[in-house]
Amino acid sequence: MEKLRIYGGKSLKGRVKISGAKNAAVAILPAALLADDTCVISNLPYIDDITVLADILHEMGAHVELDREGTVRINALEMNEYKAHYDMVRRMRASYYLLGVLLSKFGKAEVSFPGGCAIGTRPIDQHIKGFEALGAQVNLEHGVIKVSADRLIGNEIYLDVVSVGATINIMLAAVKAEGTTTIVNAAKEPHVVDVANFLNTMGANIKGAGTDIIRVMGVETLSGCEYAIIPDQIEAGTYMIAAAATGGDVTVTDVIPKHMEALTAKLLEMGMEVLEGDDEIRVIAGQRPRKVNIKTQPYPGFPTDLQQPISALLCIADGVSVVTENVWEARYKHMDEISRMGGKAKIEDRVAIIEGVEKLSGAPVTATDLRAGAALIIAGLMAGGMTEISDVEHIDRGYEEIEYKLVALGADIERVDENGKARRLKLIQSSYGEKARAIL
Ligand code: EPZ
Repeated sequence: MEKLRIYGGKSLKGRVKISGAKNAAVAILPAALLADDTCVISNLPYIDDITVLADILHEMGAHVELDREGTVRINALEMNEYKAHYDMVRRMRASYYLLGVLLSKFGKAEVSFPGGCAIGTRPIDQHIKGFEALGAQVNLEHGVIKVSADRLIGNEIYLDVVSVGATINIMLAAVKAEGTTTIVNAAKEPHVVDVANFLNTMGANIKGAGTDIIRVMGVETLSGCEYAIIPDQIEAGTYMIAAAATGGDVTVTDVIPKHMEALTAKLLEMGMEVLEGDDEIRVIAGQRPRKVNIKTQPYPGFPTDLQQPISALLCIADGVSVVTENVWEARYKHMDEISRMGGKAKIEDRVAIIEGVEKLSGAPVTATDLRAGAALIIAGLMAGGMTEISDVEHIDRGYEEIEYKLVALGADIERVDENGKARRLKLIQSSYGEKARAIL
């Protein structure tokens, strides 16, 4: 089990390139199985969720070549496996997208149920409702979801909750169905739009992605294509919050500023300066942040995935902030850890009342999930002294080279391996500019 050790109190300064969007990539990779030819997908984040998913698709018989620069070539012409076993999917929560893809490709799929996780139960009733509306039979047997259909026929599906996963999974299942499928009350997240754009590049006919109503006109075949994934909204937001947390001056590059509007509005409200360019955003933090209230909502509301990092920042804000988590029921585990660092918060169900303190003090803490890990990094960067974060495998699932990027911005952070040996990083000049590298 590796740890991250942060010596806090350094202001972050400089430019950081944002990687491709994890939550688009985990759907686009399996979606490529639907093509009749090779798909070449670039700007994938090189993170554990993607390397694990590439392994799963390979184990299921697809030809998958993933390179270190984040480009993958996938060809699934010879694949005939429609089952994904528990030992595969337990490594990868978003493997529920295999249901929609395999149903579309083979007319049947058997995928182990993903189960709950540290941020709350993860029901998939809306995914199932969608598959059934398209004519599929769905059964849960011994922890495995079995879906099958002789024919998939387009239908109108109203989602009872705005669900990213259900919206994408229904698009995947409907893309080659007969006739038109209409998803009403669809999720509008940037990664939903990216998946629709990818499918359309393969020859699908999907309209309305990014609005409440998506129409999928079924096509007979999908072909191979080249596609670049959008930048990661949540990774970008995490570095913007880190800038605000450390009194820093950070420019996140290769981003889509429109995707960041909810966070930008809150940082401005906190008293930060935020400058938007065409594909970059600079956050200049001149003062202690003012308190703000946050309510998480589906896009374009404030993203739940940034709630944990921003609530860490609010622990040092001037005043009392109220955070309401409307999407996941148990997404405050990081606050228990931050209270060990001197953070003051009262959690009542979905509401956190955070009383800002002047300073946190470093302590040993544990990451319980991906964004809790990001929140603890923010807390560690702000705190006096050393913070040691355990269970960093959660962080490695979703943030590419996080300590390299942070060191390049001036943070003092190192990774400690399972034998307790710390790996220091140093800055070197490369053809791309300054970059952190491990001292071996
Ligand atoms: C996606 O999860 C993201 N994961 C999550 O990011 C993100 O927090 C979430 O969307 C919300 O934006 C991926 O894209 C891989 P949902 P997903 O279906 O699709 C309820 C991260 O940190 N619901 O939009 O699983 C559900 O309980 C991760 O990167 C149902 O009731 O989320 C939740 O309250 C964590 N029935 C709400 O809807 C269903 O069938 C939104 O869930 C489906 C969902």
